[in-house]
Amino acid sequence: GTTLGAAAAETGRYFGAAVAVNRLSDSVYVGILNREFTSVTAENEMKWDATEPSPNQFTYASGDKLVSHAEANGMRVRGHTLAWHQQQPRWTAVLSGTALRNAMLNHVTQVATHYRGKIHAWNVVNEAFADGGSGARRDSNLQRTGDDWIEAAFRAARAADPGAKLCYNDYYTDGQNPKSNGVYAMVRDFRARGVPIDCVGFQSHFTAQSPVPSDYQANLQRFVDLGVEVQITELDIEGSGSSQADSYSRVVSACLAVSRCTGITVSGIRDTDSWRSSATPLLFDGNGAKKAAYTSTLDAL
Ligand code: XIL
Repeated sequence: GTTLGAAAAETGRYFGAAVAVNRLSDSVYVGILNREFTSVTAENEMKWDATEPSPNQFTYASGDKLVSHAEANGMRVRGHTLAWHQQQPRWTAVLSGTALRNAMLNHVTQVATHYRGKIHAWNVVNEAFADGGSGARRDSNLQRTGDDWIEAAFRAARAADPGAKLCYNDYYTDGQNPKSNGVYAMVRDFRARGVPIDCVGFQSHFTAQSPVPSDYQANLQRFVDLGVEVQITELDIEGSGSSQADSYSRVVSACLAVSRCTGITVSGIRDTDSWRSSATPLLFDGNGAKKAAYTSTLDAL
């Protein structure tokens, strides 16, 4: 293949990008998107604060624009995200207990119903595990509604859109460590009890302090061995030149070595589009030119 999307398709995978909908009017941006990518994820437009700014009042215009763009260009859509402790609307701050649980479940149901049939995979729950060595759940307003909030969210999502793959998504879970062990135990438990979960997303935000782990492939494989698919969902790698290019190549090779690692999404298009642009972590420079990391990624696919 001569593009990321075409090369990934040769092994039945997709290659996606996180998209900021307001950039779809930038011709350089949209030119790269349409040429190279076969999947899109809304960078912010499908989050709770964006879609339900007031209780039970839903705004889908921006997310719908992205879905229309994807449909017009033959791209898949990864939904991001239904339940997360960040980027919640302000009105949730005063809720707790049953009221917050019910607000969360209503949100999951309404949004997944609105997008029913249009979403390839949903990040149903994002970032629910704590950093560090505990392997425990992260403390959050949602967690304080009870330990079963995650499975309740997955069941609501399945009921609303039975055709979407339902994923758990997190960061610092890319290698085997206490945090990924905690996620692993949850997924194993969900599979054993029939809680509907189909996939696990690995955000894969890499920096000099947190590089691509040597056991990345083994970690992806142990999740696949639980019966779920895995995807790399927000890939970006701080750096430049050949060291960045080598890291991208290692990530792609790890995914391709795992049969049910079904797709890779980078967290933006140009370095200047990145949520951490000073890290220059993406595949295209600010002018939209292909970086060394682009070439190594394409070669590894
Ligand atoms: C980031 C967006 O890229 C920014 O535009 C926004 O200001 C904050 O959120 N993990 C996630 C993503 O799951 O949704 C986050 O995206 C980055 C961390």
